[in-house]
Amino acid sequence: MANKTGITEQKTQAFVDCQNHRMLIGGQWVDALNNKRIEVINPANETVIGNIPCAQPEDVNKAVSFAKDALEQDAWGRMRPSARQNLLLKLADLIERDARIIAELEAVDNGKSADIALAVDVGLGLEFFRYMAGWATKIEGSTLDVSVPMAPPEADFFAYTRREPVGVVAAIIPWNFPFLMACWKIAPALAAGCTVILKPAEQTSLSALYLGQLIEEVGFPAGVVNIITGDGQTTGSALTKHPGINKISFTGSTQVGQMIGRAAMDNMARVTLELGGKSPMIVLKDCDPEKAAQGAAQAIFFNHGQVCSAGSRLYVHRSIFDTVVSRLVELAEAIPMGPGLDSSAQMGPLVSQVQLDRVCQYIESGRKEGARLVTGGERVDRKGYYVKPTIFTSEDDSLVIAREEIFGPVLVVIPFDDVDEAVRRANDSPYGLAASIWSNDLSLVQRLIPKLKAGTVWVNGHNMLDAGVPFGGYKLSGVGRDMGKQSLDSYLETKSVFMAL
Ligand code: NAI
Ligand code: MG
Repeated sequence: MANKTGITEQKTQAFVDCQNHRMLIGGQWVDALNNKRIEVINPANETVIGNIPCAQPEDVNKAVSFAKDALEQDAWGRMRPSARQNLLLKLADLIERDARIIAELEAVDNGKSADIALAVDVGLGLEFFRYMAGWATKIEGSTLDVSVPMAPPEADFFAYTRREPVGVVAAIIPWNFPFLMACWKIAPALAAGCTVILKPAEQTSLSALYLGQLIEEVGFPAGVVNIITGDGQTTGSALTKHPGINKISFTGSTQVGQMIGRAAMDNMARVTLELGGKSPMIVLKDCDPEKAAQGAAQAIFFNHGQVCSAGSRLYVHRSIFDTVVSRLVELAEAIPMGPGLDSSAQMGPLVSQVQLDRVCQYIESGRKEGARLVTGGERVDRKGYYVKPTIFTSEDDSLVIAREEIFGPVLVVIPFDDVDEAVRRANDSPYGLAASIWSNDLSLVQRLIPKLKAGTVWVNGHNMLDAGVPFGGYKLSGVGRDMGKQSLDSYLETKSVFMAL
């Protein structure tokens, strides 16, 4: 039943047709108290398709107070771990049931391909809920034999640690993987027994609001998950400064992450920050140029380059540089572009006018600084925020386009002669989110891995993710880790118990 927008699921259309969306606070769907609203824009055609509430500080107070109550009430606070696990598994099942609907919402709201969102955003999101559900029943402390030096010799002590939920969690997420980021934050928080206030990005809030409906359907007690919409300045900042928040988990820009980190310390809120990157790919001379080009195209053009770990600096050994670049150009020019709901398109529009302008300014700066533009470098001549896959080459990696996070489909390819030089240049960045090495010389690769200052190193691949493998950054790319057991741990406090027997 396809209609003119390309939406195939009736439930997607019905959800979009709501127009005036509401947010979920304390188990109720509500507007902002002063009824302030933000437009929802479809980036594929630049049209307004609805609006969402812009939560004000009073709305934030309300959400925090519901989340705090829910934590203290027995329904959630004393729920058995196995019951928490089962709720999470049930939620994963509902996500699976409605996967196509969620993927279509991502397509109209963010611009990405619904088919890719179905496999990647929704697929990884629901797998992550299942992975974290398993941890709910495996949270454990330790028992210790203690010495207690000042006690008399006949005294007997028993000591143990217990892990407890950190409390009320504020989760603030970006627009590049709206649904998946919501899952990355909510799943470990709930597995740990916390309550959550999620604030999706103002550009892409629809899939989080839809997730709120599923959370209701599963039957989590009211106030356990609250989803408030709004911008950073009003809603996000009120949330991060609120003294009732025990932990902030943020994914977004380094600049906002630094502000949030500082605000968190005023209340000693625990923080996880997953921030920007300028992730290098290093292609060694033994690498098959075809494999390198295919890998690099995926690494930079996936999600239109709007990926924190995008492979945006490509260092290629000079002996294969020209071959890799010319093949990359062919691949870039062959990418079909179009709206996310057009299944023949692989690359859609950027998320917003703001992001389009930002990316175009970087392209302009690359031209001005003298990098060689080998393909792309302009908007696509149609409505929507489309930018052509763009590739620059340059000997010099001190250019702005080779140093700053662009967050768009813009690659800089840089030749190198010596491996140690490549590693030094790869590390010469304020960021340290990820890096990849391309080679079959595995003993050399093993020697390079410890030298790379990055939270993730991929070998012969880029952007590979798994629910069990921690993801996060060194240096200005952040603090702490999403995914894996390390993520669960960051939603738990440790209580030490001493008992004199
Ligand atoms: P942003 O960091 O401003 O937005 C991310 C989230 O933070 C959104 O939910 C936003 O509402 C919220 N936020 C903004 N200001 C806030 C504040 N003062 N207090 C609390 N929350 C606040 O990112 P933006 O402006 O959308 O994108 C700017 C650049 O950031 C991009 O071009 C890209 O380079 C980078 N970025 C990196 C991401 C990543 O995954 N590491 C994701 C999104 C953006
Ligand atoms: Mg939007």
